[in-house]
Amino acid sequence: MEVSHTWDDELVFFVNGKKVVETNPDPDMTLLTYLRTKVGLQGTKLGCAEGGCGACTVMLSKYQEDTQQLLHYAINACLAPICSLHLVAVTTVEGIGSVARQLHPVQERIAKAHGSQCGFCTPGIVMSMYALLRTNPTPHMADMEEAFQGNLCRCTGYRPILEAYKTFTVEGGCCGRRDQNSGCCMTNQEVDDEKPSSMLFNTAGFAPLDPTQEVIFPPELMALSKNQKTCSLRFQSERTVWLQPDNLDTFLHLKWKHPEARVVVGNTEVGIEVKFKNILYPVILAPAFIPELHRVEHTSDGIVFGAACTLSQMESVLKQAVATLPPHQTEVFLALLEQLRWFAGLQIRNVAAIGGNIMTASPISDLNPVFMVASCKLTLMDKDGSRVVQMDDSFFVGYRRTLLRPQEVLLSIEVPYSTRNQFVSAFKQSPRREDDISVVTAAMSVTFTPGTCVVEDLKLSYGGMAATTVMATNTAGKLLGRCWGEELLDDASSLLAKELTLHPSVPGGMVTYRQTLTLSLFYKFYLTVLHKLRGQGLNVETLPSDVLSATELYHPETPSSVQIYQEVPKGQSQDDVLGRTMMHLSALKQATGEAVYCDDMPLFEQELYLALVTSSKAHARILSIDSSAAEQSPGFVCCLFAGDIPGSNTCGTIVHDETVFADRQVTCVGHIIGAVVADTQLHAQRAAKAVKIHYEELQPIVTIQEAIAAQSFYQQKRTMQKGDLEAGFKQADHVLEGEMHIGGQEHFYLETHATVAVPRGEDDEMEIFVSTQAPSHTQFSVAEALGIPANRVAVRVKRMGGGFGGKESRSTLLSTVVAVAAHKLQRPVRCMLDRDEDMLITGGRHPFYGKYKVGFLKSGKIVALDVSYYSNAGNSLDLSLAIMERALFHMENAYRIPNVRGRGFLCRTNLPSNTAFRGFGGPQGMLVAESWITDVAQSLGVPTDKVWEVGLTVPNQCGKLFIPLQVRRLNLYKEGDSTPYNQVLEQITLDRCWDECLSRSGYRERRAAVELYNKQNRWTKRGLAVIPTKFGISYTALFLNQAGALVHIYTDGSVLLTHGGTEMGQGLHTKMVQVASRVLGVPHSKIHISETSTSTVPNTSPTAASVSSDLNGAAVKNACQKLQERLDPYKSKNPQGSWEDWVKAAYFDRISLSANGFYKTPDLGYDFETNSGRAFNYFSYGVACSEVEVDCLTGAHKNVSSTIVMDVGISLNPAIDIGQVEGAFMQGVGLFTLEELHYSPDGVLLTRGPGSYKIPAFGDIPTHLTVSLLRDAPNDKAIFASKAVGEPPLFLAASVFFAIKDAIKAARADSGLAGPFRLDSPASAERIRNACSDRFTKLNPSAKPGTFRPWSVQV
Ligand SMILES: Cc1cc2nc3c(=O)[nH]c(=O)nc-3n(C[C@H](O)[C@H](O)[C@H](O)COP(=O)(O)OP(=O)(O)OC[C@H]3O[C@@H](n4cnc5c(N)ncnc54)[C@H](O)[C@@H]3O)c2cc1C
Ligand code: FES
Ligand code: FES
Repeated sequence: MEVSHTWDDELVFFVNGKKVVETNPDPDMTLLTYLRTKVGLQGTKLGCAEGGCGACTVMLSKYQEDTQQLLHYAINACLAPICSLHLVAVTTVEGIGSVARQLHPVQERIAKAHGSQCGFCTPGIVMSMYALLRTNPTPHMADMEEAFQGNLCRCTGYRPILEAYKTFTVEGGCCGRRDQNSGCCMTNQEVDDEKPSSMLFNTAGFAPLDPTQEVIFPPELMALSKNQKTCSLRFQSERTVWLQPDNLDTFLHLKWKHPEARVVVGNTEVGIEVKFKNILYPVILAPAFIPELHRVEHTSDGIVFGAACTLSQMESVLKQAVATLPPHQTEVFLALLEQLRWFAGLQIRNVAAIGGNIMTASPISDLNPVFMVASCKLTLMDKDGSRVVQMDDSFFVGYRRTLLRPQEVLLSIEVPYSTRNQFVSAFKQSPRREDDISVVTAAMSVTFTPGTCVVEDLKLSYGGMAATTVMATNTAGKLLGRCWGEELLDDASSLLAKELTLHPSVPGGMVTYRQTLTLSLFYKFYLTVLHKLRGQGLNVETLPSDVLSATELYHPETPSSVQIYQEVPKGQSQDDVLGRTMMHLSALKQATGEAVYCDDMPLFEQELYLALVTSSKAHARILSIDSSAAEQSPGFVCCLFAGDIPGSNTCGTIVHDETVFADRQVTCVGHIIGAVVADTQLHAQRAAKAVKIHYEELQPIVTIQEAIAAQSFYQQKRTMQKGDLEAGFKQADHVLEGEMHIGGQEHFYLETHATVAVPRGEDDEMEIFVSTQAPSHTQFSVAEALGIPANRVAVRVKRMGGGFGGKESRSTLLSTVVAVAAHKLQRPVRCMLDRDEDMLITGGRHPFYGKYKVGFLKSGKIVALDVSYYSNAGNSLDLSLAIMERALFHMENAYRIPNVRGRGFLCRTNLPSNTAFRGFGGPQGMLVAESWITDVAQSLGVPTDKVWEVGLTVPNQCGKLFIPLQVRRLNLYKEGDSTPYNQVLEQITLDRCWDECLSRSGYRERRAAVELYNKQNRWTKRGLAVIPTKFGISYTALFLNQAGALVHIYTDGSVLLTHGGTEMGQGLHTKMVQVASRVLGVPHSKIHISETSTSTVPNTSPTAASVSSDLNGAAVKNACQKLQERLDPYKSKNPQGSWEDWVKAAYFDRISLSANGFYKTPDLGYDFETNSGRAFNYFSYGVACSEVEVDCLTGAHKNVSSTIVMDVGISLNPAIDIGQVEGAFMQGVGLFTLEELHYSPDGVLLTRGPGSYKIPAFGDIPTHLTVSLLRDAPNDKAIFASKAVGEPPLFLAASVFFAIKDAIKAARADSGLAGPFRLDSPASAERIRNACSDRFTKLNPSAKPGTFRPWSVQV
């Protein structure tokens, strides 16, 4: 058939209005690669390549023949094969506006509303919003939230993005004074020194959205689409052929001829298999032109969907049906819609097909359980005819296998109407609610004998409980003929517990949780049906009101927020931007895609690409390396191994205990063994995979517990001790002991590690463009590896797409290797790690295990603490000692403890070295502190019902306070107290933050409402917690507390500012320009920062430890003051003159207009030996109050409200500081409630991308979020009375963790459990559910540890 058919090999599509014709394009090439490498459009970013982050979002538009309308929709360019784009218009972020041309309102608003920090996510978010507005110019907030389900941002905490785009919605934000009649919030604004959120940005200046001005659909494309003659496409590359026939007959013949061919519609499954599972599909069959597979037909039995209909299409058809049909007919449709609500993100649903979901046959498919309980009918077809099969458990014949014959395709699926006495529900439980794959997914259908509650038919289908979606036929069968009541429930629970079991070693783990979920979800179904039966007037058991909330479907509330900050003093000149909410200087460019990140730099001439060869074993001797296959692969240039290092192969951050390339031995999975250089990225990566390593495996140490058992520690153990521990415990009325584990965290900066090394050809000079927080460390590492002096290496950093500590020391792993390759080949070499490599190789936040013994008085006053911390440092020391020291410096968090000892042990394990991460050990140290103080409060044993009577022991404006709030307040530091490291606390603002937080959050009323809610609800519980933080500001390594700056004034008056800090989204450059603008007295528009470079400011400390504004700000001030002093005489001589006049006059007078600045923090220097000396320059303080609601049956929780009060001194820029508070808080929410790294017992990281590792998404932000920057709190220890803000607020997210613990406590109380209990971090849905011990958990006891090999271990 292929032979007799006429094939076209020309692909025609449009990019930003321009026609593109590609002859025989490569079927393996994605739209993202095409845009970035072939069209040179770098605005669309690569964040993950698996459809999980949205950084690559673009809009597709096409003309629909049937409706004669244009369809606009957002997609992930990283998964879209270019071959699938015939006659499609692609719009990228560059296509809608630019700084040079004109900004699109979508770009302008996100930038001006401070919704872009590092900016790497911004183009994707802009395009999601743009696509929404193209289809719906007046969206609701809910539409917007749906549009963003597939976009992630690691910096902003999402609030400012929502705030920016709320201005487009019906609910709408501020009209920017356009609505003169009803009164705009801006016009009505009372002048006050407290400004609400709308004033963080000025809506008045926003360009209006004018849909008539949008880029038009290319007329030529319209004509082509309308006149489209049937044509079949055939594209062939060296590995793959893409066949896109124009009729069903040919399609079926092709499938018959190529039974192994893959049918590709959305490529959301196949794309992942090819990229990450290394699977090659030589023949791709695309049914895009086949009407039969795209048809939707309404029949008398239901709706028939062509298998290639997208999920979005299905959603809209079902919604329409639900709106028009009688309710009893739409039970199945509603169940499907409920699943689709939480199915991936919109970009995926817009392309993924129903048939793709069915045929992938994934055991955690969210739709298949519903299709099964609804007895959907599938039409299968091959060239000889069709057959109809019912979708039941015989359809799936094994893991990812169906009963389809290889020559057959799925033509359509019929989804039936429900019947009058049928009830259907569907459930999906995943770690994160939005865009996450299921842990357990289920659908249930029951049909009753008319007029009764007697079960006539029951179908229960579960995903996540076996290798296929299964039906609990045994349970269902035994319940037929029974009455829907408590007895049936009891039997169903024990039957399900027996029928749906998992082996303790099952892939995916979470065995107890998954088993419990099967019962919990059935219970929800039971209650829902009972409720409906009662609603129909049937005589069924009454439903107690306290269980009703368990039947409610989750509906997110529209988030709201308030930001409070202090305005600049009245009379401050408009030109003086210090203290004002100035927009991030690159924000507009970030929103238009014009901001250049490392991998966005155009190719250098002769440039090559590098791919890493890494270890697949955690601990092994390398027996041999065979690169012969790699050498044969296309585009191969060279391999590099340890012997290729011209200088030193040993390296490290503090001590040199690492290698550039592993030498004879590997000590973690992901250990870099070598590299392959080739002409393109694809060729380099393919060749790297062809390198074969033979190992002799050695016993690895993976977990902290294994390290403790083997006494595998790095030598440097730290102890900090103050007071008399023994006497303290003697004095105590009570002593309790406890322990907790805190999981690690992946940085998940949206831009992965990237380096371009360019040899300059002379004197070994090398220029390195790199995404790093530590240019100087990079420079020295490269120089050492190359065996050349550091003065030959220039490291340049324009900006990073996020860092968070992950690019402080670990970025040299890649940059050194790339530099070695460039040096060897004397050609430019580039590498940007794929997300999975980045996660595998570069380490993250240290997992910690804390053990404590705490002594306290009856009043709750703590008198003694003995705490030991064990961190999982991994296979090298890196920064682990300093991180442990910071944990010890924060072991008391914000509480005064007279007698205390803290010990820190660094576990040497076979994991990739863990490293710096925002907070640097502080959050782990403090979380353990909050755990013991919670235990103290809980062990004081005040029963819930007596909580009202617990009076106030500490005077406070809020009146009564309650345990554990009371215990915290009682122990809180006061002015003049001294820390365990003997630093006296001065200018302490903890109490002010505390009081403001309590009053702003309405704690008292909230607590009362929570108690009442918990009394009234058995299966949903609310919890509340107030958590303080005190964060020491300074590097704990004394020598790092220094910074430099270099300022040039050019004769035209423009200023070039350089300092030692790097820009990673935190707004450092913006703040530095503000500082320079104030000191020089020139408008900020005259000042420019181009980059950070080791050639301009040498020997810089990494941009870390929150101190960069303090240190670099002081250095910038120093340099600018020098220049100012030099200009003063010219100002005095010509007071009416302009800045330019003075500059010119000085120049002609031969005065240097260039100055460097320097700063070192005075009076620092702590000594562990003597426990004396000032460890910190000052402290940043904050307090947060959070409320959560927990679904005790599933473990899901929602963040109801958070109120944060943060002392940032006199803010240099309140918009940036609030951005830091919110971003850090949400990163903390991820750390403490969501993000879980899974390692196999062999030390293999199993979570290597956004599909399996979940950072907070838009839907995770607290519904009500208040951030207040403490007013009138000048700090005399830092630049212009400000305070550091990058890290300190992160820990405040522990308020969410302890609010969850508070809610669990309430659930446990209903099961008769009281007193302290252990809750490890993160408080994941699994941990929450398991801790809410009840009748269902009891039916699923955990297997005894040690009797099986678990899928993953707690490292
Ligand atoms: C980020 C992300 C999130 C996801 N989230 C979810 C989720 O929440 N829930 C969930 O269930 N799944 C999820 N998935 C999985 C996937 O999106 C779905 O399974 C989707 O429906 C697949 O459709 P597709 O058109 O993209 O499939 P493709 O990748 O195009 O094809 C998938 C498979 O189906 C076969 N196939 C497709 N059509 C036919 C046909 N007509 N006849 C025979 N074989 C056919 C193909 O040969 C191939 O083997 C997610 C995937 C990604 C990447
Ligand atoms: S890069 Fe495409 S979704 Fe992440
Ligand atoms: S601004 Fe969103 S990831 Fe950095």
